[in-house]
Amino acid sequence: MKKIIIINGPNLNLLGKREPNIYGSLTFTEFLDEVKDKYTGVKLEYYQSNIEGELINKLHEVGFDYDGIILNAAAYTHTSIGLGDAVKAIETPVVEVHISNTFAREEFRHQSFISSNAKGVVLGFGLQSYELAIQSFL
Ligand code: DQA
Repeated sequence: MKKIIIINGPNLNLLGKREPNIYGSLTFTEFLDEVKDKYTGVKLEYYQSNIEGELINKLHEVGFDYDGIILNAAAYTHTSIGLGDAVKAIETPVVEVHISNTFAREEFRHQSFISSNAKGVVLGFGLQSYELAIQSFL
């Protein structure tokens, strides 16, 4: 069974409540339950932190024996050389995900320190972006 982990960065614990016009009104737990029911052949784990170093630690922890990492580093995408380096340092392929189309938003969201070291990037499809990333590992 494939082991895949979704890692979410800062403020994504507020999904469902946070700017629903951009991020939707479903909580991540509700979404995850639906996805787990659909992909029963996958061991799907979930981790969220608002703290940059904790996200880096998690990447180190899972980055050598999981089959895939789906990373939405949220705002740290645009600021964190440390997270970009961590993605480069590990062996497990990382798919970068964003709920919104970051290129259709403010210019500071157009830069990513993750993309150049990611296997691929999925963005702009709402929570479905995560599902497309799961499919990319199957
Ligand atoms: C986001 C986009 C980021 O620019 C933003 O800071 C987020 C969420 C997204 O999923 O659309 O927090 O990563």
